[in-house]
Amino acid sequence: MKRPLRNLLTLAGLAGGAWGLSRLARIARLDAAQDALAGQVVVITGASRGFGRAMAHEFAVRGARIVLAARSVDQLTAVAGECERIRPGVETLVVPADVTVEADRQNLIDEAIRHFGHIDVLVNNAGIIQGGALHEMGRDFVRDTLEVNLMAMMRLTQIALPAMVERGSGQIVIMSSASGRHAMPFFIPYSTSKYGLIGFSEGLCRELVGTGVRVLLVTPGYAETDIVASMKPVYERMGFRMIPPERVARMTVEGILLGRAEVKIGFIEAAGGIVNQIAPGLADLYWRFVVPRRAFREAARAQRTE
Ligand SMILES: NC(=O)c1ccc[n+]([C@@H]2O[C@H](COP(=O)([O-])OP(=O)(O)OC[C@H]3O[C@@H](n4cnc5c(N)ncnc54)[C@H](OP(=O)(O)O)[C@@H]3O)[C@@H](O)[C@H]2O)c1
Repeated sequence: MKRPLRNLLTLAGLAGGAWGLSRLARIARLDAAQDALAGQVVVITGASRGFGRAMAHEFAVRGARIVLAARSVDQLTAVAGECERIRPGVETLVVPADVTVEADRQNLIDEAIRHFGHIDVLVNNAGIIQGGALHEMGRDFVRDTLEVNLMAMMRLTQIALPAMVERGSGQIVIMSSASGRHAMPFFIPYSTSKYGLIGFSEGLCRELVGTGVRVLLVTPGYAETDIVASMKPVYERMGFRMIPPERVARMTVEGILLGRAEVKIGFIEAAGGIVNQIAPGLADLYWRFVVPRRAFREAARAQRTE
């Protein structure tokens, strides 16, 4: 065998071995931490459907005590029932809350602490999306998206943090998106909010060093929920496979257990974020020549969760 080929095979073998070892170490760490969330108090916003609902199920499997928050009380009550079926005896608390209303945000944190004594994990997940060209959007579109996706997460974190810092432990989860690293046209307020969350998470992580409070940033790609329902045919045409919300929930919870700073979900979307950072010109070419622009724009215009 020629020397360059032998070197290449040796390198590939070493890389494969290192990857295999890291997978084994991950499995062992997750195994050791499998009961770590039992009895922990977890507050989830946007728990009525999509990722929030799937995360409620995942935390229920692990025996956490779960506070479910959103505006749709009936759906929250149904999710609480599902948690009970998944793990009989699991403790849940339904707190109706509009995360854009300051009194609701304060009440959510107060109710969780009053009922369970403290909060271990705050999952900032509630989000909305509205598509369309920026110059055709009303002023409310922009404001509402930033209010729900960015301001509410920052403010809820602000309200929950003092008690966590005082106890010397806690976990803040911030649900951003792959589009926080690779902005999508026709979803500018959404992408802007998700970019903002990445800055928020980075700064907070550095600010909280030594306090015992951790921050986990989650950046999923396109997942099968209401927030991208109209976009599904276009995304599939672009070669993306929609991620099941259950996978997002599992990987988020594993990120908490492993003490990760970020969990990226969706290989192509994560790669797109890296390309956008190191070669933004390439990303521009992709949007100009690869994406079916008209179909994307039409589907975006139809995409609204409000
Ligand atoms: N699906 C994806 O492809 C994807 C990818 C990356 C990131 N994300 C992010 O993941 C998070 C969850 O999205 P999803 O995909 O699960 O969407 P979804 O199925 O539409 O769920 C959104 C959740 O947010 C809640 N919500 C919206 N506005 C609210 C408000 N003002 N106050 C309280 N709750 C509110 C909704 O509950 P109510 O309507 O009952 O209030 C619902 O429970 C969002 O932050 C989203 O940006 C999603």
